[in-house]
Formats: sequence, structure tokens, C-alpha cells
Amino acid sequence: DSTVRTDRFVAAIDQGTTSSRCIIFSQDGAIVAVDQREHRQIFPKPGWVEHDATEIWTTVQAVVAGALARAGLQAGALSALGITNQRETTLLWDRATGAPVHNAIVWQDTRTAAICRRLGGEVGQDRFRDATGLPLASYFSGPKVAWLLDSVPGLRGRAERGEIAFGTMDSWLIWNLTGGVEGGVHVTDVTNASRTMLMNLSTLQWDPEILQAMNIPEAILPEIRSSAEVYGTAVGPLAGVPVASALGDQQAAVFGQACYDAGTAKNTYGTGSFLLLNTGSRPVPSKSGLITTVGYKIGDAPPVYCLEGSIAITGALVQWFRDQLGIIRSADEIESLAAGVEDNGGAYIVPAFSGLFAPYWRSDARGVITGLTGYVTKAHLARAVLEATSWQTREVVEAMYQDSGVPISTLKVDGGMTANKLLMQHQADVLGVPVIRPRVSETTCLGAAYAAGLATGVWSGLDELKTQWQPDAEWTPRMEAGVREREYANWRKAVERSFGWEE
Ligand code: G3P
Repeated sequence: DSTVRTDRFVAAIDQGTTSSRCIIFSQDGAIVAVDQREHRQIFPKPGWVEHDATEIWTTVQAVVAGALARAGLQAGALSALGITNQRETTLLWDRATGAPVHNAIVWQDTRTAAICRRLGGEVGQDRFRDATGLPLASYFSGPKVAWLLDSVPGLRGRAERGEIAFGTMDSWLIWNLTGGVEGGVHVTDVTNASRTMLMNLSTLQWDPEILQAMNIPEAILPEIRSSAEVYGTAVGPLAGVPVASALGDQQAAVFGQACYDAGTAKNTYGTGSFLLLNTGSRPVPSKSGLITTVGYKIGDAPPVYCLEGSIAITGALVQWFRDQLGIIRSADEIESLAAGVEDNGGAYIVPAFSGLFAPYWRSDARGVITGLTGYVTKAHLARAVLEATSWQTREVVEAMYQDSGVPISTLKVDGGMTANKLLMQHQADVLGVPVIRPRVSETTCLGAAYAAGLATGVWSGLDELKTQWQPDAEWTPRMEAGVREREYANWRKAVERSFGWEE
């Protein structure tokens, strides 16, 4: 095809929960090279999860160098660099030395449950929902910042004197990429800011009342910018490359899946799963346990909002089955093990490892396995592990319908678990709608690359990007409606059993 030009390249960094990767894309949206590295998960106590932000920065630099080497390109060949990242994970660092003052507190960490309860007071979980679109839950950044300021000796004074910077991983990477202590820019984008619980969804600015309620000094906050604009120019090995986009990873996947029209939705299956529905230029409040979030904002164009169903644990349950129980040796093995039996044998696993997120928001939930009899084998449990993902997705799809009144007619999917055909078939079965995976399933990186390329003129606009989206695989529902509803009722019963444990 002579219209395909491959003379311009855009790199994207995806700083995820368990690993960081860098992908270089050509102008036709194809992958040129990938590099990926894991970083440590630090579990100081049950329910606590931390990352070493210095290790993350080192890992990110390594994957950028790795991807360039694999592509056979010099940094100068890149038209732009985009950033996408695990959201909510919270870091405070010293502006003068560039050193983190504590490990980053990861989005899955539940240490702030009591702070959230106290902040809710008589109003409860919904105290800041109108302003931020979010329920008070340990998931979001604001209470994590409050915990750090209260727990690290001397930190509050330093923060008030302007010596400390706060950021989610996008801010940390952009600050380091653009020079760090030597003039790094301290910014975040609207999508990441919308997960802090500190930004007002309508003004897209930090909310003074919430800052006051959480006792967070303004001096630590990054400037909130759009998701696609040149924030600064990289120094070091990427010298001269414009750093031109930032989006939370789930919003980046919306962008990479070309969900640009209101009513389009995608589900990404990673550590957790996150289903986002584009609701257009208006934030739609949820009455059904979803959250309202910024989808993206491209330069000066108005913001686009989404409803989101956040599920904390899906892929992480497969990892747990592999690493903590040792029933499988590799994550792929779960498919063949599960395929050895016809069904779940009556077993259901509710992976409430971080409480339950959407649509329940219960910090008192803990994981349960129900329906055990002597008949149940490890193969049945393998099925139950996979089905936990599709049932949780069904719950958030139902909530989407209740909130929007628009039934989802097909579901675009992406992420690691979409390689599992058994799971994708079960997903289509329990939703009763087709599930479609695009040709470029690395939609998170692709979305960040698209946004960075839009900001630097590599692509002309959303219409051009839309033409690059191509389907690759589709699963259509085969399960009988009666079976589906009976199984779903069993799942709901198992979820009830997960409530009411000590926090
Ligand atoms: O909100 C958490 C989400 O952004 C994490 O995504 O893919 O790093 O598990 P992932």
C-alpha cells in the first residue's frame, strides 16, 4: 500500500503495576519493537503493596534503550514520546535531591481504609463523589498522600515549605525524563489527576475544599495539563525528543481502541480489569457503583468523560494460582488445565484481595472459594479462576446498563488475558454479546503513542486513527440463557460470602 508511510516513529512507555515496557510504533500504527522488564512487588504487611520508584525509573530507562536497540533506531528518529501508567499509585519525592521520601504506595494497597472511613464521616463513602466522580476508597491517591504526610517524620513541614513533590507515575517519569533536579517539569494530565480524588471533574483543577479536608498542601501538587501536548523535551539518552502525552493506562487503552464516540466501550484484562464506556463531553454520575472519570483531553479540545467499572483482581488471580498455590508453572498453563473439564464443578472463587472494587466498593470483603465438594479438582479450580474474571466483568456491564440505559452491543477487549481463548469464549457467553479483539492488542501503549503523535503532527486527527483499528478475533455467545442465569446467581451468592471480614 503506497499510502502507508513508515518514516516517522513514536515511542510509548507503559509503566504498569508489575512491569514497565516501551513500544515503538510506526506511522501506520504497527509495532516496530518492544522491550519489557518487571519490578519488585513489596508487601510489608497483609493488604499493603509498595513499589520502589527508583527501581521503576531505572527499569523504564532500560526498556527505552532496549526498544530502540531492537528497532535499530537512534533516539533522534523518534517524533515523540508518550507516557501511560498504572494509575493512583502515589509517590512523594524531594525536589532538591530527586529521591523518593518513601516507597510508592500502590493502587491496590488498603492501608488507608480507616482514613477513608474517617473522611467520609456522617456523609459516608459519597462525600466527594459529586466533585470527583469517585467513592471514598483506599484505591485512590489523595488518602495515600495524607497517610504519607502523617507517617513519615518531618515530612509535613517539608511539604509545606515546598520541598516535596507529589506525583503519580506519569509525573515521576516526566519530571525525570525532562531533567529531574536540573529543571524537570512537574505536571500530570487530566486522566491521571482524575484518579487522585483531589481534582474537580468539572473545572479540571485541584479542588481546594478537598485539599483542605485531607490536609494536603498545595505546594506539593503538579500542574494539571491536557493528555496530548508537549510538556517538555527529554534530556539524557532521549535528548531532544518531545514528551508529548500522558494518560492513565486504562484511558490510554480507550484511546488506542479508537473508542472516540459516545457509547463505545473497551475492557482491558491486566492485573485487574477496567471497563470504560465513553460518555462524551459530559461527566455522567453513577448510581450503580461505577466511577466517573476523564477519558482524555487532546490539547485545547474539550475533555471526554467515561464511566468506569474498576475490577481490582483478574490476571493477578492467575498469578496467585501460579505463585502462591503452585498449581500451574506458567500463566498460559491455566488454559489447558481448565480445558480438561467441562465446567467449574460447582466451585467459584471471589478474588477480593484488596476488598472488592466496582460495583461494591467494600473494603471488608476478602477472597473466598465456595462450592467445594470432594468432586472438585484443580482443573475445576482453574476454571473458577478464569470465570472470576468474566463474572466480575458481567457485574460491571450490568451497572453500565443501569447507569446509561444503553446496552453494550459488542465489547472491545485487550490486554494479556485476551490470549486465553477459553476465557474470551466464557466472557462472550456470560455477557450474551460478541467480544472483539483488535489486531494491535497493545492498545495501552498504542493510545499513548497516538496522543503523543497527535500533539506533534504525526497523525492528523481522530478520523485518521480510527481507520487504523482492525479486528483480529471475535467470540460469539454460545451458552444457553438458562445456564447463564443459574451460574450468575451462584456467582452472586459467592460474592455475598466475601463480605463482612475484619479489615
Ligand atoms: O487503576 C489501576 C490500573 O491503572 C492498573 O493497571 O494494567 O497496571 O494493572 P495495570
